[in-house]
Amino acid sequence: MYQAAVLTISDKGSQGLREDKSGPAISQFLKENGYEVVYTTIIPDEKEEIMMKFRELAGQDTALIVSTGGTGFSKRDVTPEALQAVCQRMIPGFGEAMRYASSQITDRAWLSRACAGILDNSILIALPGSPKAAVENLEAVIKPLKHGLEILLGIDSDCAVPEHHHE
Ligand code: MTE
Repeated sequence: MYQAAVLTISDKGSQGLREDKSGPAISQFLKENGYEVVYTTIIPDEKEEIMMKFRELAGQDTALIVSTGGTGFSKRDVTPEALQAVCQRMIPGFGEAMRYASSQITDRAWLSRACAGILDNSILIALPGSPKAAVENLEAVIKPLKHGLEILLGIDSDCAVPEHHHE
């Protein structure tokens, strides 16, 4: 079972001015999909603070680090920049899959700068802020994510899958 951390990135949430519904929704979804959620926190939309938290969790070999919030256009939205600054390699396909799947639900999906990357032995995914958007975006990549972790962590080195097998 892979360990996961969930970071809620929200100025209001971090000051206790808004209840965090997105973090718990993501945690619930991850548990339903076989992940062990070992850490959750709420931090403000500060690039340096977000980068430090990503690095701290990757330093503890947390396999999956998921954030919610800060992917839009408001001036304080800097999560994608923080993720890109710490990752050694980006996973563009996850952003593409998240936006493509979400565009079937709302045109505004194209405004999300949701993204993902690899930092040492961790996969980082930055999801939009609303609970609905966060879960819908994560759902779009949950199946390939598992195989990605298996390859990254050396459990599976072979991408071959039986024909018509879409797990
Ligand atoms: N994706 C899905 N699946 N469902 C949604 O409701 N909302 C969009 C988008 N992606 C949405 C979505 C909206 S309105 C915005 S502004 C962006 O995500 C960025 O969200 P954020 O600023 O909360 O990170």
